[in-house]
Amino acid sequence: MMTMNSHTPVMVHEVLELLRPRPGEVFVDATVGLGGHAAEIASRLIPGGWLIGLDRDRQALDDAARRLANLSGAVRVTVVHADFRDLPQVLLSRGVEGIHGVLFDLGVSSLQLDSAERGFSFRFDAPLDMRMDTSQSGLTAADIVNRWSETDLRRIIAEYGEEPAAARVARAIVQNRPVASALQLAGIVAHAVGRRGGRIHPATRTFQALRIVVNSEIEGLQEAIEQAIRCLLPGGRIVVLSYHSLEARAVKRAFQRLSGKCICPPHVPECRCGAERLIEVITSHALKPDAQEVALNPRSRSAQCRAAERLARV
Ligand SMILES: C[S@@+](CC[C@H](N)C(=O)[O-])C[C@H]1O[C@@H](n2cnc3c(N)ncnc32)[C@H](O)[C@@H]1O
Repeated sequence: MMTMNSHTPVMVHEVLELLRPRPGEVFVDATVGLGGHAAEIASRLIPGGWLIGLDRDRQALDDAARRLANLSGAVRVTVVHADFRDLPQVLLSRGVEGIHGVLFDLGVSSLQLDSAERGFSFRFDAPLDMRMDTSQSGLTAADIVNRWSETDLRRIIAEYGEEPAAARVARAIVQNRPVASALQLAGIVAHAVGRRGGRIHPATRTFQALRIVVNSEIEGLQEAIEQAIRCLLPGGRIVVLSYHSLEARAVKRAFQRLSGKCICPPHVPECRCGAERLIEVITSHALKPDAQEVALNPRSRSAQCRAAERLARV
């Protein structure tokens, strides 16, 4: 029997309220994952709508396709193995000239975290891989941990993990090479960080940093969000769920720049960022999941939801 992995979609109610999918419309889920949000959106496009889902994780995409197959016939569904940074080309190649809405639910899925062999989680004695797109032979977390200099390790753990003990963690990693598995790395990091209390594992930040670097998660994120906004029809909406401050910063900068607010540093004499007014930001502050959702789905705890609407005329 075919088993289907599951991922509890985050802030579904808020996402749907903000996106307002309606029958006959064309929507993109730029991070379709296991299809949780996509199924909710697609069911609201019936009849006559079209849901296009992208993911760079082929395994996730297969699960999403199976989940969304229930709806086929009532609504058109297309899943594409692609990086969301290529969204304009994906749409162009399918003859789509504009979309009514787009969702980005950034970060990792439960499938990735819960699959021992993918190496994303400190819970498993698995090789340190962490590539979302395993079809590409690219950098793995093992390459970084075993080959990068202590200085570079410290920099990424501080910058992408926001780990206060980055220097101690980097030194401990270098002293304990070769590091063969996620579980071994978790032990090294936990020992270096020391007891911290709280609910999150002491290796969470270091694992986050490695995952972000392996998958180049921040590079081009602001541009990808801006490109998606340009694909929106007048009145179309974008919703972004982010899970850490670097993602949130990219979203805020994209929304600021395309709502016509300059993002140049204060000392620059004249605007060079090319701010233009294409959208109205709908969420004056990021929305967060309520306590009940966090209790039911602890992975939602760091979620921030932001939305904007494409202006009718520019
Ligand atoms: C939090 S999960 C999405 C879960 C989904 N909303 C659901 O309800 O099942 C994030 C997904 O984004 C994908 N992803 C991350 N970066 C991506 C990128 N640059 N392009 C396409 N997909 C990406 C990951 O592979 C992962 O499956």
